[in-house]
Amino acid sequence: MLFDKITPAPPDAIMGLTEAFKGDSRPDKMNLGVGVYQDESGITPVLESVKAAEDRIRTAEKTKSYLPISGAPEYKAHVQDLLLGAAHPARMEDRVRTAHTPGGTGGLRVGAEFLKRIAPNATVWVSDPTWANHPGIFSGAGFAMETYPYYQPSTQGLDYAAMCDTLKRVPAGDIVLLHVCCHNPTGVDLTTEQWKEVGDIAAAQGWIPFLDFAYQGLGEDLETDRAGLLQLLEAVPELFVASSFSKNFGLYRERTGAMTLVASDKESAAAAFSHVEKTIRVIYSNPPAHGGQIVTTILGDAALRAQWEEEVKAIRDRIKTVRSAFVKELQARGVDRDFSFIERQKGMFSFSGLTEEQVTFLREEKGIYIVKGGRINVAGIPTAKLPYLCDSIAESLQK
Ligand code: LMR
Repeated sequence: MLFDKITPAPPDAIMGLTEAFKGDSRPDKMNLGVGVYQDESGITPVLESVKAAEDRIRTAEKTKSYLPISGAPEYKAHVQDLLLGAAHPARMEDRVRTAHTPGGTGGLRVGAEFLKRIAPNATVWVSDPTWANHPGIFSGAGFAMETYPYYQPSTQGLDYAAMCDTLKRVPAGDIVLLHVCCHNPTGVDLTTEQWKEVGDIAAAQGWIPFLDFAYQGLGEDLETDRAGLLQLLEAVPELFVASSFSKNFGLYRERTGAMTLVASDKESAAAAFSHVEKTIRVIYSNPPAHGGQIVTTILGDAALRAQWEEEVKAIRDRIKTVRSAFVKELQARGVDRDFSFIERQKGMFSFSGLTEEQVTFLREEKGIYIVKGGRINVAGIPTAKLPYLCDSIAESLQK
């Protein structure tokens, strides 16, 4: 029998927590695992701009026929506008190509599968730590994986010197995965000056940056958050970007993302992209339309776009408010540890420094679900539940 001898796969490090959470009947339980925004009432809302766009789509939509393999041209143009701005030189030189992919994960995997066709012997370097799904995506595509130093537990910040030391040893032709902003899981980002230096290292070494850009607008603002990407493009002629509208449009389940490549000239961009399209065709043929239509409707309409930008700002502001309140509440409990770094970290996550034992205690004894490694989804904390959370963390620190 084919299936008889199979032992079950372990639950997913992030999504598996949500399943366990759903089966937990304790009233105080909190799901701070998966990176999903929740408002003060614990709801992941549909943005008002998204609802308005959906109303328009419902009346205007004329067909459900297939999209092109790489998605609708208007959607792709909006993706590039957000990533690079309307008049970026690489766009003017027609050396940027975008495919609409099912989420940012789809963008990463399409990029990985395409890379496997053109650079099968490359090694993919990821930060230590990185998003729990990165190794699976790239090793699943057949790549050897390595890590570069990133987070320094002693400072709760970036181990920049060690990171650069390693990046200076990455050979030409290898792929280095970098998080443009709101690093997942640490919330620790590079400064613009550091991005410039990393770009210089990439150019000197000849490795290819593959940027994961899933949180544009959740760090500082839409423009500031893309600074690292623009800085790298000053330095290198080629790179990849996997981007996502899950978080900044709240389109999680609509699986709305993109894989963008920048090539050194128009001809190589066209040739490379023809292989990206071949890659997509044999995986899922062409993308789902709905999320892309929403993004296109909003970004193509000045009033809806302004409304959406306000909504992203509200999400970002709430996360910052929660970060400050979280630090204050922990301090108020007299915990014997400085948690002020939570306020410095960017985006949805805080890398708490809690040990595996403490993470397990919080889940088993308190019904508080956070990712192994200590990543807390700050964007999912209602302030009313902060006292319970902080009491529980204070208790876990005694363990
Ligand atoms: C996360 O890191 O929690 C999110 O990016 C959701 C996911 O797919 O893991």
